[in-house]
Amino acid sequence: MSEVNANYLYLDNAASTHPKPPGVYSAVEEALRIGANPGRSGHVAALEAARLIHDTRESVARLIGVGDCSRIIFTMNATHGLNQGLFGYLKEGDHVISSTVEHNSVLRPLHELGKRGVEVELLQGDSDGLVDPVMVEGAIKSNTVMVALGHASNVGGAILDVQAVGKICRSHGIAFLLDGSQTVGCLEIDVDGLGVDLLVAPGHKGMLGPQGTGFLYVAPGITLEPLLFGGTGAASSKAEMPDDMPEHLEAGTLNTPGLAGLGVGLEYIFERRVSDIRAGEEAIIARLLPQLEEIERLKVYGIRDPSRRIGVVSFNFEEVDAAHVGYALDEAFSIAVRVGLHCAPGAHKALGSYPAGTVRASFGPYNTIDDADRLVEALKRIAKL
Ligand SMILES: Cc1ncc(COP(=O)(O)O)c(C=O)c1O
Repeated sequence: MSEVNANYLYLDNAASTHPKPPGVYSAVEEALRIGANPGRSGHVAALEAARLIHDTRESVARLIGVGDCSRIIFTMNATHGLNQGLFGYLKEGDHVISSTVEHNSVLRPLHELGKRGVEVELLQGDSDGLVDPVMVEGAIKSNTVMVALGHASNVGGAILDVQAVGKICRSHGIAFLLDGSQTVGCLEIDVDGLGVDLLVAPGHKGMLGPQGTGFLYVAPGITLEPLLFGGTGAASSKAEMPDDMPEHLEAGTLNTPGLAGLGVGLEYIFERRVSDIRAGEEAIIARLLPQLEEIERLKVYGIRDPSRRIGVVSFNFEEVDAAHVGYALDEAFSIAVRVGLHCAPGAHKALGSYPAGTVRASFGPYNTIDDADRLVEALKRIAKL
């Protein structure tokens, strides 16, 4: 991983993917050296910065099957995009359906909206950490305006039946917000085909870009109230935010270096193809799960079928604090994982790992089957301690 310890094995890709494709690092530096503010001036350097951002906007649109890239809003991270989607759409008296297994970046904005008069209904996730689309349909009421769910769990890895939920939302004329934080770049996504109206993802996970980047897709026909108000470089004489997208929802200077890096991350994905990245992660999980199950005193959480889960695996040794296992993996075996509640307490409750949490290993496009084997060997040795 780093120059300090080249043998380090990074298995914390669900937090932020690492490493990035080689060109990402140089793209960030080159954009930093252009230096100018995108979209604020007409000189050559400003136009070059604006072009970098436009190219990345087009790439994000392409990745999720969108023709008009002005519907892609750049954000600081997924949390920012989720807040924009939720606060920008929901009003007092509206009913929104979500679930207990969501990440706090969905649950906390919803909690706050609940205090402001939005009726928030959280469906119970099952023991695999999944939400049943039938329950979604059953919860719809006359004032339901939105369903907000995650595409895949960052704890148990289970993949939601997005198509079924999208179909239900379309047939009832309800907006569908999908938190694609763990899936964009890892699973094929065509927003229109899936019936998704608002899609959010961070740039620093499956899209292989730098931290400080993310996006929100807003389908045609959906209008959001801005979360932030300020300069956009356009329609400056108006007191209000411009009506045109993306400026309507993009106040302030964007992260040009980060977005330039994100563009290169996306180039790598297009070249390698999402289907190949997905196949690689599925093969790793297929190799890992049965081996983990053979380790004495080790409990693995969530769905067993690798085709129904992403490259995230949560586990625990009976009676052993997850933090101790994480520490041992790091210190003695140079393997980086994440322990605890992973900002998703309800997901742990559903899986039966609350309040202790789990050890989570998460794989990215640069991991191999050998990495899964190395984790298994380390855990076997820890099991003997
Ligand atoms: C499912 C899910 N949603 C949202 C987020 C928040 O992402 P960010 O930290 O980029 O805001 C994460 C991050 O781990 C996540 O896993």
